[in-house]
Amino acid sequence: MITTVSNNNLFDVSGKVALVTGASSGIGLHLCGMLLDYGCRVIGVSRRASQSAALGTLSDRYGDDFFTIDMDVRFSESVKSAFDTIENEFNCIDIVVNNAGTVTPRRAVDTSQKDWGSVVDTNLTGPFLVSRSAIPLMTSGGSIIQIASIGAFKAFIGLSAYSASKAGLIMLARTLALELGSQSIRVNIISPGYVITPMNSEFLSGPQGEKVRKQIPLERFAEVSDLDGAILFLASSASKYVTGACLHVDGGWEIV
Ligand SMILES: NC(=O)c1ccc[n+]([C@@H]2O[C@H](COP(=O)([O-])OP(=O)(O)OC[C@H]3O[C@@H](n4cnc5c(N)ncnc54)[C@H](OP(=O)(O)O)[C@@H]3O)[C@@H](O)[C@H]2O)c1
Repeated sequence: MITTVSNNNLFDVSGKVALVTGASSGIGLHLCGMLLDYGCRVIGVSRRASQSAALGTLSDRYGDDFFTIDMDVRFSESVKSAFDTIENEFNCIDIVVNNAGTVTPRRAVDTSQKDWGSVVDTNLTGPFLVSRSAIPLMTSGGSIIQIASIGAFKAFIGLSAYSASKAGLIMLARTLALELGSQSIRVNIISPGYVITPMNSEFLSGPQGEKVRKQIPLERFAEVSDLDGAILFLASSASKYVTGACLHVDGGWEIV
């Protein structure tokens, strides 16, 4: 059967309600602005969202389309309390980007249980708690996007907790995809390589960073905007038959 292209708004997300965790810095901050520019109403959350000057600037620019709330994704009480407020403000959520993350680079033998717990609680338990609270609000279906990492696929010295948490996040996403398909909620993963943000800019601009850069087929680190296409694809109906998938946005590094 031949179909004609009638919809030139394949990647349209305008009017959708998008929740982005880790909104106050780096990738999350950029994604809030990008989704607002594409017409979403955005809920930006992080532990210190209400104190963030950068988020204040977005609020000034986008007015009622941008809503911020403090949430520590590690703790179910904090997530619940923030979602109580979100539920009062919004009828539903269409898009969730589980982006909040942390890293404590240290060899496993030197990693305390507290450090291990903090990384796993932020990077893995957080997306579980946020997804669990968001699902009942995704009444018209929707898209959950988990921000994993190349660390889920490659081993790096000093990243045991980080890599284990991100690998776990992939199976959380795949399991959620299986459980939520009948509710038209799609769950997918973006796995970035190095993206230049406050988390790593010092490392990437140094000699170790240069060694890494040379291993990447596209021979550069990502800018935050390099994730835009993948986010818009997975958030919009352009990916309406895609769930449980992992999109590598890493300049080809994963294949090396
Ligand atoms: N940058 C990279 O090269 C890279 C590569 C692969 C994957 N990633 C992943 O991409 C995501 C964003 O990274 P980034 O580089 O943009 O990091 P970033 O600049 O350090 O920002 C992290 C964000 O997460 C928030 N956050 C941290 N702990 C939180 C918690 N317990 N509850 C709620 N929010 C919390 C922080 O805000 P508050 O301090 O206000 O809470 C901040 O907004 C992470 O999941 C990271 O693992 C990054």
